[in-house]
Amino acid sequence: MLRACSRYIQREISVITFVLVGSLLLVILFNYSEDFSNPDPTLQVDVRNYECHMKSSGRSSPHANPIPKCERNQSAELVKNFSSLPTGIKDLLYYRHCRHFPMLLDIPDKCGGANGSSDVFLLLVIKSSAVNYDRREVLRKTWAKERLSNGVWIRRIFISGTMGTGHEKKRLNKLLKLEQSKYNDILQWDFKDTFYNLTLKQILFLEWMEINCPNTQFLFNGDDDVFANTDNMVLYLQNFKHKSRRRHLFAGHLIQYVGPIRSPYSKYYVPEQVYESNSYPAYCGGGGFLLSGYTALVIYTKSKSIPILPIDDVYMGMCLAEAGLRPEHHLGVRTAGLHVPGKNVDRLEPCFYKEMLLVHRMLSGDMYTMWHRIQDSDLKCAPFSSRL
Ligand SMILES: *[C@@H]1O[C@H](CO)[C@@H](O)[C@H](O)[C@H]1NC(C)=O
Ligand SMILES: *[C@@H]1O[C@H](CO)[C@@H](O)[C@H](O)[C@H]1NC(C)=O
Ligand SMILES: *[C@@H]1O[C@H](CO)[C@@H](O)[C@H](O)[C@H]1NC(C)=O
Ligand SMILES: *[C@@H]1O[C@H](CO)[C@@H](O)[C@H](O)[C@H]1NC(C)=O
Repeated sequence: MLRACSRYIQREISVITFVLVGSLLLVILFNYSEDFSNPDPTLQVDVRNYECHMKSSGRSSPHANPIPKCERNQSAELVKNFSSLPTGIKDLLYYRHCRHFPMLLDIPDKCGGANGSSDVFLLLVIKSSAVNYDRREVLRKTWAKERLSNGVWIRRIFISGTMGTGHEKKRLNKLLKLEQSKYNDILQWDFKDTFYNLTLKQILFLEWMEINCPNTQFLFNGDDDVFANTDNMVLYLQNFKHKSRRRHLFAGHLIQYVGPIRSPYSKYYVPEQVYESNSYPAYCGGGGFLLSGYTALVIYTKSKSIPILPIDDVYMGMCLAEAGLRPEHHLGVRTAGLHVPGKNVDRLEPCFYKEMLLVHRMLSGDMYTMWHRIQDSDLKCAPFSSRL
């Protein structure tokens, strides 16, 4: 439980920092949660109508035309004790079956078309809410820069929903649109970008990937507040490729032998009505993990028959288990942060970061400095084993 919780605590810390950054953002968040009980009818789409629409059109982008709204499932009220569940959980049960939302921003040519996508070695898929403009800006300049690394291509995509309502929502949509016109790196769907909707975001991305980037070799899937050493990721993946012919890969900070939090006061509350078993399958912490394109498509296929669990990283584990595939632990992925030994050692000592694949979490300014420091050819680090 502890390890699972550590990520959650980290998330809480992120939220606190976030709140300190600006009370404006806080206002946005509040509006947003109030809005849960009052879903915007224009945002809903109907799954069945959507399927028909898909069959009759040969588009590269799945939701280029307006799609009908997804109706709330009134029978959700039949689950035991429905009326005593918190509003957020009720909302989840009402709209759990809704998996298709209109696309607001698309980049169908990101991977050079479906056939060209085998030239993309590592696709960075970063979950980012519209308000996190400063994080996206610094990632574009640092570890998520699109480039050739050790002879192979790294490409970048931010995935987003919508935030706020009314003018606020319009403003934030405009921001993403402006960024898109400059960087061409955002996928946005018209659903509320909430913590409980992260699984939906993940599934929508995988659906998009199956159409637009099916032959991408590897993906990094993670949050926008992590420090990812993407050059090391490329080296690790190139090595993996040479060593092994098997195509399954899903590696990160492995979490196992934990189960749902049953306390209604927790932000991560998952009642029996949503997930019956008291244990979760093994999974990797959602701050960031690496997977092969093959495994991503297997997960997508399995997700079609697994009801949405609002905890996105656990949901990935459920899809893997269903496919008989296992997630694996990678020592270089520190979603619970990096423990730097010694009282007088700099917490942001670049030698510790040079060897890592990922560390959660880092502020934008530190990210910018760290990225430059680890590239510095004058940086001399003692052998790794003597430092940890
Ligand atoms: C609606 O909710 C009921 C009760 O939870 C469930 O059995 C049913 O499958 C749901 N329908 C859809 C379309 O998801
Ligand atoms: C229903 O909720 C009540 C109060 O929240 C609780 O005491 C009771 O055990 C619950 N019953 C079931 C079957 O979950
Ligand atoms: C992609 O490759 C397939 C199989 O080689 C071919 O049939 C198809 O026409 C190609 N599509 C494009 C858009 O090049
Ligand atoms: C997820 O997004 C949909 C569409 O905006 C919204 O109706 C629903 O309330 C959201 N679900 C949760 C659990 O936040």
